[in-house]
Amino acid sequence: MIYENNLSFAQQLDAADPLKAYRDRFYIPQVNGKDSYYFTGNSLGLQPKSVRGFVEEELKGWETLGVEGHFEGHSKPWAYYHKFSKEALGRLVGAKPLEVVSMNNLTVNLHLLMVSFFRPKGKRNKIICEAGAFPSDQYMFESQLKFHGLNPDEALIELAPRSGEQTLRTEDILKAIADCGDELALVLIGGVQYYTGQLFDMKTITEAGHKAGALVGFDLAHAFGNVPLQLHDWGVDFATWCSYKYLNSGPGNVSGIFVHERFAEDDSLNRFAGWWGYTEDKRFLMQKGFEPMPGADGWQLSNVNVISTAAHLASLEIFDEVGIEALRTKSLKLTGFMEFLIRDISGDEDTFEIITPSNPEERGCQLSIFCHKNGRALFDFLTKEGVIADWREPNVIRVAPVPLYNSFEDVYHFARLLSEALKQ
Ligand SMILES: Cc1ncc(COP(=O)(O)O)c(C=O)c1O
Repeated sequence: MIYENNLSFAQQLDAADPLKAYRDRFYIPQVNGKDSYYFTGNSLGLQPKSVRGFVEEELKGWETLGVEGHFEGHSKPWAYYHKFSKEALGRLVGAKPLEVVSMNNLTVNLHLLMVSFFRPKGKRNKIICEAGAFPSDQYMFESQLKFHGLNPDEALIELAPRSGEQTLRTEDILKAIADCGDELALVLIGGVQYYTGQLFDMKTITEAGHKAGALVGFDLAHAFGNVPLQLHDWGVDFATWCSYKYLNSGPGNVSGIFVHERFAEDDSLNRFAGWWGYTEDKRFLMQKGFEPMPGADGWQLSNVNVISTAAHLASLEIFDEVGIEALRTKSLKLTGFMEFLIRDISGDEDTFEIITPSNPEERGCQLSIFCHKNGRALFDFLTKEGVIADWREPNVIRVAPVPLYNSFEDVYHFARLLSEALKQ
């Protein structure tokens, strides 16, 4: 697509945008008495206006039914609440309802899935991850490896970009997997890297991991609701995500997991069990001896946090209505427009560069702008002018134009302000 750097071009793109009405379904935070230019959906998505109704329905149920609300009296009995998200989750991540469930928080789920899928045996005890993984993932790896009596310095292989490059080449990931061969127990990397915004080729990585005899999982915090996924068809063993970023389910809201169907009835897997993972029709017999539910449900520990999961359902309803493919179509244009404008205004200046891959197939919404100088001053100027972006130490500004609620005009104004900041 040929882009132009002017307001009327941005307005034309908005006028032709089939998803433009969705912006009105969200609350846009106000700065200086007007809508902010909100580009942090990669950190905390905005609140859908429909959330209140979903939450109030459950508050009303609690108010009027008390404990009876678990089984009857209203449309979504709480004892089955985890089931009401399954179909929509499956459509979002390319999975069967059996393979997905919403539960816990992301780091908790990473640990629970490691219990089942990191099974070091003899020399097959290595994990491949990306260097500079999100800190929580790093602490998770370190503590899991120590738990198994392994030394993280030896057992964790952290893949870094080549010298002078900012992102990983798929060929280098595949080579590292092949080189590790029969010492490799697990590949676990982010679907979209949180710092650079790089989208990994999950299908190819999964195939390579399996060829080496290892299991393959993904932390989809930055991929879920951002890019189309086909976890089942790609053969991914397991994955987990959070719902507060692109999914707009609210601060700290529920995570979810994917466990491939091939493990649905696999009793040989270790797991840390709880009553909500126990066979549903016998759960209230309160018997000894854990018998898991088939599929992802068998990984649940606790009963559902209904009040917050209600907000998650509200958001999933919107995603189901729009469809991830339509979102991706707009996202490619929106992020492409932002990339074009940033390059246009930076000219020959070496103040900053975009470190996110320029190939749209290798990124989601987010662009990461690496500032060679005056990064913090640029960021502070933007913030003062109503841009809500995010700063990642030591010198990266991350911006995520989100197709559900960001407009092309938002993107234009971001670039205009960045250009003003540069002049100052
Ligand atoms: C890639 C990644 N992994 C893990 C986490 C931690 O998530 P939580 O606090 O929900 O456990 C985050 C949070 O932003 C993240 O971006």
